[in-house]
Amino acid sequence: MSEMNRVRKAVIPVAGFGTRMLPAAKAVPKELLPVLDRPTIQYVVEEAARGGINDVLLITSREKRAIEDHFDRNRELESRLKGNGQESLLASIAELSEQVQIHCVRQNEPRGLGDAIARAEHHVNGEPFLCMLGDTLFSGHPGPARQLADAYSHLGTAIIGLEEVPLENVGRYGVVSGEMIGEGLVRIDHLVEKPARDKAPSRLAIAARYILTTGIFDCLRKTTAGKNGEIQLTDALNLQLEHEPIHGVVLKAQRHDIGNPVDWLKTNLLLASREPALWAAIEPMLRELLG
Ligand code: UTP
Repeated sequence: MSEMNRVRKAVIPVAGFGTRMLPAAKAVPKELLPVLDRPTIQYVVEEAARGGINDVLLITSREKRAIEDHFDRNRELESRLKGNGQESLLASIAELSEQVQIHCVRQNEPRGLGDAIARAEHHVNGEPFLCMLGDTLFSGHPGPARQLADAYSHLGTAIIGLEEVPLENVGRYGVVSGEMIGEGLVRIDHLVEKPARDKAPSRLAIAARYILTTGIFDCLRKTTAGKNGEIQLTDALNLQLEHEPIHGVVLKAQRHDIGNPVDWLKTNLLLASREPALWAAIEPMLRELLG
């Protein structure tokens, strides 16, 4: 892969209010709520590392300092664990910290995903970057970070990770229209945020992962508040489409949202069902509940 078309940096916005996860997400950011043995954000950063990312910028807020702390060292805890021969409990995070440098920048007010991403301009410094929503994780191979980085090395344009969703769910997502130009590859011509079912141009939903190019920042500056009074990334991408091609790639991995209680619980159960030892403990209880 040529250095020019290599994606090294990821931007992970985690500054939203997480209202759908209240009251759980009042003092504990939803991105720190656990899925099995680790917080959601750790899965996201692990996916980035597997995709060749070595620099992660978290877009955080005053209320979400605990997210940065999760990736920082806690020497007192480490020496306690070492004394007890329990270092393995923090091994996954220690390993990750060696692979990826974590940086943070604040979004003072949650004015939308587009506004959050605009805070990354200085840090990404003209490079293409992977944008990952911090409340969504994926299972299966290749992970979206790897799949999109590989696609970028060929296409060299902004790329949106897509998922085909049932028609009744299109209103929950941004949806793209465009031409299929290869297997799972779309040349996008328009994006619509949360369309009504009869207005949806396709069933291809934007799936929480993007490769964005530096042109997005000018477009974000020109974007005014849209749906819900927020600066929408989708609106900025529509502006960018007037000057630059944007592709969509249907992701091979399976998406798991943790932004609302039902999906969070589903994600836990689904991932538990893939861990034989854990499932052996949970399955009998579920069988009993189901009568
Ligand atoms: P969401 O819209 O799913 O998150 O944004 P939210 O706004 O926190 O959730 P609800 O709708 O109130 O329940 C997706 C990701 O973008 C971040 C969120 O933290 C989440 O990880 N985000 C959203 C920001 O960083 N800043 C924003 O202004 C909005």
